[in-house]
Amino acid sequence: MKPLPTILAILLPLTARAAPLLVIPGNSVRGARIFETEQCIRCHAVNGRGGKVGVDLGRAVPRHYSPAYLASTMWNHAPVMWSAMDKAGIETPQLTPESAADLFAYFYSARFFEKPGDPERGKQTFEGKHCSVCHGITESRAEGAPPVAKWESLADPVLLVRQMWNHTYRMRQAFQRRHLEWLSLTSEELTDILGYLRSLPETAHLAGRFSNTTGQGGEQIFQAKGCAHCHTGALALDDRLHNMTLTDIAVDMWNHAPRMAEQPPLLTAEEMRQLLSFLWMRQFVYPGGDIAAGKKVFVARNCAQCHMSGRNGAPPLPGQARKYSEVTIISALWRHGPQMLRRMNQSGMAWPQFSNAQEVADLIAYLNSIQ
Ligand code: HEC
Ligand code: HEC
Ligand code: HEC
Ligand code: HEC
Repeated sequence: MKPLPTILAILLPLTARAAPLLVIPGNSVRGARIFETEQCIRCHAVNGRGGKVGVDLGRAVPRHYSPAYLASTMWNHAPVMWSAMDKAGIETPQLTPESAADLFAYFYSARFFEKPGDPERGKQTFEGKHCSVCHGITESRAEGAPPVAKWESLADPVLLVRQMWNHTYRMRQAFQRRHLEWLSLTSEELTDILGYLRSLPETAHLAGRFSNTTGQGGEQIFQAKGCAHCHTGALALDDRLHNMTLTDIAVDMWNHAPRMAEQPPLLTAEEMRQLLSFLWMRQFVYPGGDIAAGKKVFVARNCAQCHMSGRNGAPPLPGQARKYSEVTIISALWRHGPQMLRRMNQSGMAWPQFSNAQEVADLIAYLNSIQ
């Protein structure tokens, strides 16, 4: 008989697959609109455009990236934000889960989640890694190599991942023809290169974009394109993509090249979007938190005081039929937060602050642990 952990390892993915949670489709164009109609833009600028009361949400700061980061930072800042809204006569937005998903996409497109690159270093790397041999900024320097000013992939990180997958085989051959040694990339190097290329006036028209699908169909693409051929067992991607940005994944696509004996199957933009919505965005639906740790957070941050006993008009948690994710918790915060804050004030409680994003991931795992 197999030992218990092995049986669980076989059963768990099956039960998880029995009722997979789908990702809510988000779109940065819709998100940008919500950012305006819900008046976020009156206080927050994104990449310089907008109000100056709150922080510029597109400014590149070194954040410890994790999917729970946006939810936790919004939660912590919410009361200050709401009172600023009160003063400015702005009604608190009632974000639906769909609008939260769109806002999330907008934040991604504004590179809120990306690590900042160093343009100076990026310029050197772009030359040092021979990229500039073939790619001019406005002119092609080798057959078929698009000039940087035409790179759609500079605007949309999903397309970057796609190009890095589709083109590396041909690029590697082009390297060989020119007797250039194939060079692997690190995340820092690509981040610097992107920081450099995006800082150029010639690429200013490539405004950031991001969108995702439900991810349904992603698994089928994973099989059909041969990823599943290598990525099973120890190489299974199920939990490997946690806390990775799409730039990190683009680097991994590039670094695959030497492993590919022949041209791998190409992916269309839509296929890659579907695949990443399935593979990578799963971490937003299943944030990988720890249930026991989440229960501790629930008690330590006073949530239990109202939600466990159903006191102060609070719905019992956990136990709601709805499942929370990194995205829907943001919607819950905006919809129910102001009322929660009033109740807390009435009972002399301070607004709970999370000390890090992991606490939110753990909390979500706990909230979802009981149907
Ligand atoms: C009336 C002004 C105002 C409006 C409108 C506003 N905010 Fe804020 N926001 C602030 C202030 C002020 C802070 C900083 C709070 C603090 O320092 O505790 C903040 C903080 C934040 C943060 C945390 C930033 C970080 O990196 O730590 C996020 C995210 C955010 N707001 C998102 C939004 C979104 C999304 C909207 C629209 C739905 C919005 N804000 C509307 C004033 C506002
Ligand atoms: C030997 C020539 C050569 C070198 C060196 C080279 N590339 Fe390319 N690159 C190409 C060609 C050719 C294509 C188009 C491939 C195709 O369409 O299948 C391309 C396409 C791309 C694209 C897709 C652009 C878009 O959105 O359409 C990106 C991104 C890219 N290269 C990045 C890089 C980076 C980063 C480096 C350096 C680490 C690099 N390339 C080095 C030849 C090269
Ligand atoms: C020929 C075998 C092979 C194929 C086919 C393949 N990969 Fe990989 N992939 C690898 C290997 C080997 C690694 C390196 C794993 C490591 O470093 O531990 C890797 C790494 C990765 C990583 C980084 C994982 C991490 O832990 O950082 C991602 C993401 C990835 N592959 C995605 C894909 C996708 C998506 C496809 C299909 C479009 C694919 N791979 C097809 C062999 C393959
Ligand atoms: C002072 C009592 C109180 C405390 C403490 C409190 N809440 Fe609430 N919570 C409420 C009330 C009341 C509502 C319902 C608000 C409404 O109807 O808009 C609510 C609603 C919610 C909802 C939305 C439920 C739904 O219907 O989807 C979530 C999620 C939530 N709270 C999470 C938390 C978390 C996490 C904490 C701790 C960090 C917390 N609450 C602490 C009183 C509280």
